[in-house]
Amino acid sequence: MRITLSVIKADVGGYVGHSESHPDVLANAEEWMARAKKGGTLVDYHVTKCGDDLQLIMTHQHGENNELIHKLAWDTFVSCTEVAKKLKLHGAGQDLLADAFSGNVKGMGPGVAEMEFEERPAETVIVFMADKTSAGAWNMPLYKMFADPFNTIGLVIASNMHGGFAFEVQAIKEGKKVTFNAPEEIYDLLVFIGAPSHYMVKAVYHRGSNEIAASSSTQRLALIAGRYVGKDDPVCIVRSQGEFPAVGEVLEPFSLPFLVEGWMRGSHHGPLMPVSTPDSIPSRFDGPPRVTAAGFQLSGGKLVGPRDMFADKSFDNARQQALDAADFMRRHGPFEPHRLPLDEMEYTTMPEVMKKLEGRFVDI
Ligand code: 13P
Ligand code: 13P
Ligand code: MG
Ligand code: MG
Repeated sequence: MRITLSVIKADVGGYVGHSESHPDVLANAEEWMARAKKGGTLVDYHVTKCGDDLQLIMTHQHGENNELIHKLAWDTFVSCTEVAKKLKLHGAGQDLLADAFSGNVKGMGPGVAEMEFEERPAETVIVFMADKTSAGAWNMPLYKMFADPFNTIGLVIASNMHGGFAFEVQAIKEGKKVTFNAPEEIYDLLVFIGAPSHYMVKAVYHRGSNEIAASSSTQRLALIAGRYVGKDDPVCIVRSQGEFPAVGEVLEPFSLPFLVEGWMRGSHHGPLMPVSTPDSIPSRFDGPPRVTAAGFQLSGGKLVGPRDMFADKSFDNARQQALDAADFMRRHGPFEPHRLPLDEMEYTTMPEVMKKLEGRFVDI
């Protein structure tokens, strides 16, 4: 059975500030999804949140980039924005950057990760969702899952993975993409994906079967809007088991709360803390950035789950490290590298301060 898994997300309003999603907004999204399932548009769905981001996890048989599915997501977000406006939630409709739907939500603000595949006898998928960070945050974990044998021993000892994976990398500002084969091109690959604000892993493929292994959202809100409206807060789908990394290998990269951009006003670096869904309530300095993981088995397109994968106590050390790193970074205040470099900052007063100082800068 061919199934498409679409994860489409948007921040339609924060409760309180940018820290959480309001239950009424989630309930409204649930109604839209239930109607679409009843009407046959969707096979199944799961509505959830990561911090202030509303997440629609949908299965269907319409393929990727399908107008019906994208319009359903868009209409759901518009309707949820109405709920958010009534409650005067913070930044109601924040990620809806277009006035009207035009065929595909790409470029309109919402984040999209989709993949179509033939459902395996046991189809394990993990949906990662992040808040207070940018598209590109998945570069390091995807590299570790699919190219680093110190993370994924299956690359060494499992014959169905030993042939490696191919990484599709997007240069988002230039509108270009390129594919690298791992393991033989990992040094070339890392030249690019080590700079996640410029280059993002869009998809990963199994090289033997050419099967899709991972798909991520790469939309950059600031590029679409031409100004800061909120952080991208990306999502990523990963298939697991069999010829793909085991669940434990897929989750293992998040045992390091690596530094990402996006904390506070989108303008600070901070550790990405793996948390359960109820703990995705970034409140300290609007953070630190969070990542959640919803695990499913698919059965005829039905989403059996979710299992809240980071609820596991074995991520407690990662959380403690994240809190220690958060303290350390916070003590830098307005200094880099806590604050982002000038050209990456989402907020700046530089032009007005420069104007005020006109004539006061003299040659050294
Ligand atoms: P499979 O090959 O059955 O996916 O098992 C790998 C595994 O889960 C080992 O941890
Ligand atoms: P969000 O992108 O999650 O809305 O956060 C915006 C922000 O600036 C928080 O400080
Ligand atoms: Mg927000
Ligand atoms: Mg958010």
